[in-house]
Amino acid sequence: MGILDGKVALITGAGQGVGRGIAMAMAREGAGIAVVDRNGETAAETVTLIEDLGGGTALYRICDVRNSDEVNSCVASVVEALGTVDILVNNAVDATVGIALQDIDDEQFLISFASGPFASFWFMRACFPYLQDGGRVINLRSGTENQSLPGYGPYVAAKAAVGGLTRAAAREWGREGITVNALVPFALTPSAEADLAAQPGRLEAVYRQLSIPRSADVEADVGRAAVFLAGPDASFITGCTVSVDGGGSFFA
Ligand SMILES: NC(=O)c1ccc[n+]([C@@H]2O[C@H](COP(=O)([O-])OP(=O)(O)OC[C@H]3O[C@@H](n4cnc5c(N)ncnc54)[C@H](O)[C@@H]3O)[C@@H](O)[C@H]2O)c1
Repeated sequence: MGILDGKVALITGAGQGVGRGIAMAMAREGAGIAVVDRNGETAAETVTLIEDLGGGTALYRICDVRNSDEVNSCVASVVEALGTVDILVNNAVDATVGIALQDIDDEQFLISFASGPFASFWFMRACFPYLQDGGRVINLRSGTENQSLPGYGPYVAAKAAVGGLTRAAAREWGREGITVNALVPFALTPSAEADLAAQPGRLEAVYRQLSIPRSADVEADVGRAAVFLAGPDASFITGCTVSVDGGGSFFA
């Protein structure tokens, strides 16, 4: 028996990293998982990993979350296959980093917003009829939102907008029976490692700032926090941001 038995979770960007960790943790608790990613190869790998747990139900859908028509088709296809969406995790991210604000063109700026607040909103809107009366939304934010980092302007601005969207939806949707919360991870995922590798000394600097100087385990740390927010013990928690980053960010 798992605490998410009978639930269906749609997780964007679950082909690797944090999204895969959340998918694995929720699958272990009995949820049927829709792995949504633009990379079909890694999405299929996540499905195989879930099936290898024994008894796990999972499928994948290829979707570019930056396109609202694709998002609507994806949600319809998941509902057709799995019956509903009880838990929505907006995790996929795409961003151009490493360019000074004054040199960023429109397209580079828009990528962060399209894959961040726009995609999250599109999925939330499309899933709303299925989430009513007990649904959960979990959005991924970033510890860089408060202090920022040089070269991360569009990403930081987009993640701050995800925070605003999370609070707005939490305010409106409580009476619809839906909780809306956010997670802030710090995890050495493939993209985070590549990002840090390009900045000599940066990882050491990050560890100096953390109260608990290590990377999260994407399943045991971030995934379990997502399970908590999606499970019965969190039914009275909404509008909150939970940092799973060893004290890297203190969201009030
Ligand atoms: N890793 C960290 O330390 C960290 C820190 C703060 C916030 N976050 C947030 O956590 C989330 C996951 O981070 P991660 O490090 O696992 O990322 P990642 O880059 O390792 O994985 C992102 C996944 O999203 C998919 N994706 C990217 N663009 C997409 C698109 N347009 N359509 C569909 N799928 C797309 C990728 O294929 C990939 O599978 C992100 O929202 C990120 O901002 C991560």
